[in-house]
Amino acid sequence: MNKIRNILTLITWIPCCAFADSYLISTPNTSLLLEGDKGTDLNILYYGSKLADSDMEQVKNSGLAIYSQAYPAFGFGYNPETALSVLHPNGELALQLVLEDYQRENREDYELITFTLKDKKYPLQVKLNYKAYQKNDVIEIWSEISHGWKKPVTLKQMASAHLPFMSGDAWLSHLYGDWGNEGIVQEELLTTGMKVIKNRDGVRNAHVCHSEVMISLDGKARENSGRVIGAVLCWPGNYQLRVDCVSPYNYAFFAGIDNENADYTLKPQEVFVTPELAVTYSTQGIGEVSRTFHRWGRTTHLANGDKPRDILLNSWEGVYLKVNEEKMFGMIQDIAALGGELFVMDDGWFGNKYKRNDDNAALGDWTVDREKLPNGIAPLLEEAKKNKIKFGIWIEPECVNTTSELFEKHPDWIICPEGRTPDYGRGGTQLLLDLSNPEVQEFVFGVVDNLKTNYPELAYIKWDINMSLSSFGSSYLSDKEQSHLYIAYHRGLRNVLERIRNKYPNLVMQACASGGGRANYGILPYFDEYWTSDNTDALQRIYMQWGNSYFFPAMAMGSHVSASPNHQTGRNIPVKFRFDVAMAARLGMEMQPKDMNETDRNFSRKAIETYKKIRPLVQFGDLYRLISPYSDKGVSSLMYCSADKNEAVFFAYKLRHFVAQPIPEFRMDGLNPDASYRITELNVPENSKPISVDRQVFSGKFLMEQGLRIPVQKEYTSRILKLDRIN
Ligand code: GLA
Repeated sequence: MNKIRNILTLITWIPCCAFADSYLISTPNTSLLLEGDKGTDLNILYYGSKLADSDMEQVKNSGLAIYSQAYPAFGFGYNPETALSVLHPNGELALQLVLEDYQRENREDYELITFTLKDKKYPLQVKLNYKAYQKNDVIEIWSEISHGWKKPVTLKQMASAHLPFMSGDAWLSHLYGDWGNEGIVQEELLTTGMKVIKNRDGVRNAHVCHSEVMISLDGKARENSGRVIGAVLCWPGNYQLRVDCVSPYNYAFFAGIDNENADYTLKPQEVFVTPELAVTYSTQGIGEVSRTFHRWGRTTHLANGDKPRDILLNSWEGVYLKVNEEKMFGMIQDIAALGGELFVMDDGWFGNKYKRNDDNAALGDWTVDREKLPNGIAPLLEEAKKNKIKFGIWIEPECVNTTSELFEKHPDWIICPEGRTPDYGRGGTQLLLDLSNPEVQEFVFGVVDNLKTNYPELAYIKWDINMSLSSFGSSYLSDKEQSHLYIAYHRGLRNVLERIRNKYPNLVMQACASGGGRANYGILPYFDEYWTSDNTDALQRIYMQWGNSYFFPAMAMGSHVSASPNHQTGRNIPVKFRFDVAMAARLGMEMQPKDMNETDRNFSRKAIETYKKIRPLVQFGDLYRLISPYSDKGVSSLMYCSADKNEAVFFAYKLRHFVAQPIPEFRMDGLNPDASYRITELNVPENSKPISVDRQVFSGKFLMEQGLRIPVQKEYTSRILKLDRIN
């Protein structure tokens, strides 16, 4: 008989019987089943719907058990793809990892199951960890690699996890894009051969592709049906995700730090900890996978995920670098008058010897430009306080311009091999600071610490990064450690961010990286939100927000109403549509309010008031995507429901208009079929009438099965409906 070790306290290895041991790792609705005896392979048999202990035999007898190594290593066995490959100090490459020990530990919110694997011949061990949340269907997987050699071992490949799966029609959904077009959904059939998603930017790892995927096992992804595996790699640097189709039906998924040009010399006694891969599984389509990741993100991988986000005005598209006291005062007063809660002074406020009048100077010199702001920052904070709003500021502390006092003082702090001319970034003078260097870490920490020490009331920091890791080389790392740079940079950054978060837990921080380059769960534990894109065009944002919503909760997605015509696309879009799009995420504004006409100003004031009412639903509710903008129906729609299903808010957008194009009915989701809901239209412009369903009552069943016909005939018309349960 298999022995099931499902006990709740910490236990150590118990010598085993002749039969293999089974290990069931479960969340409320999912299970992962592994098997392995001491001294043999540890195999994954199953990942799917929750199993009872008594179901394990069924899995094995069904012929569906996978039997694939949990952490395949290079050297023995038939493993076309591996998670780990090393170079032993004696030149040997082979590993034979077998099970040595097993522990199960019960914590308040999760169970932590750790398998210790050891090489059969040499002193190298891997601790393979599975952290199973008890209230949410997520298991985080990561490994810890160490050895007992006297000399270093080189890690040549060090994935976080391996997850095998079977399917006759597997589809991959993932995000790709570019600057100004981040988070675009890509769907593809997984055919034989290998699909690799890799990012080698070094820093902005979410512009062109993302380290999160969904794998639909029953054909093309559907929102509310079909079996789906979701996976999120929490690493802000270079990564590699691989789906290897070994043979039709048999797939192997690997995710981890990208090992290209990143050999890691692991010293004796050192433990290499890989980043966590969070996985989930659902039988109810990709919508449920998204909601699971949103809940998991808010509770474990997003700073202050339990606190509502403020409505802000950011100065960038309003004044660009032309910051001055008068304009800042004006913007503070204007956003306060509109009902906003925070003003953020973007780029352009700093520089002493070198001024930030262009993007080619002053990064690194985080002192106020006294020509632009003769009285410094204090009066701005005062003005914000007088207007009963908060104040925030922009910095880009990981970078320097060669035209800066910082560079003159510390030319050796940049990333570049000694004796070579670096690749310059933005403005032809921008470079990345070498965060592997503790002195640089101290400096970067000091940028925030000085600001907070001088201005304790500073409430928000927009932390930007507009540079890739190029000119590969560190004057801090030793000759033998040069290949550590991609990893050492992020370890240095994490040290800094941890110190900042320990000292200033309530400081709100936005991760901006030339727009959405840092939409990644490796960095979000330190940030309250990310800037979704430098492209604020409401039409394109619908597509971007849709894609981002696959993995990230709305509260984390900065979405700002900007001017019309839009500065990036030149498109003219009515203020209502612009608000209706931004209100489906974390609402803000990004314009010069003074340029608005009276009608738009009035509309904005009312819309901000309305957002405050729906904020709990948007920021903490359950997202249901209804009609995809990619569906070619010319419309898009989504909604957020409260956990108790007593309230919901529904959004509909008309994207394209063709004569006689049918408008589909809008069928809702996530409601209680037995409840009745009163509908109220929100954001109705002055002099317009609400649509006919306004004030009408419908059952949840009717709204979900029949739906409503919503008049969105013309391009850029939009509707927001509030649903309140009345019985
Ligand atoms: C980047 C950001 C923008 C803005 C500018 C300022 O491009 O993504 O939002 O802050 O820098 O220089």
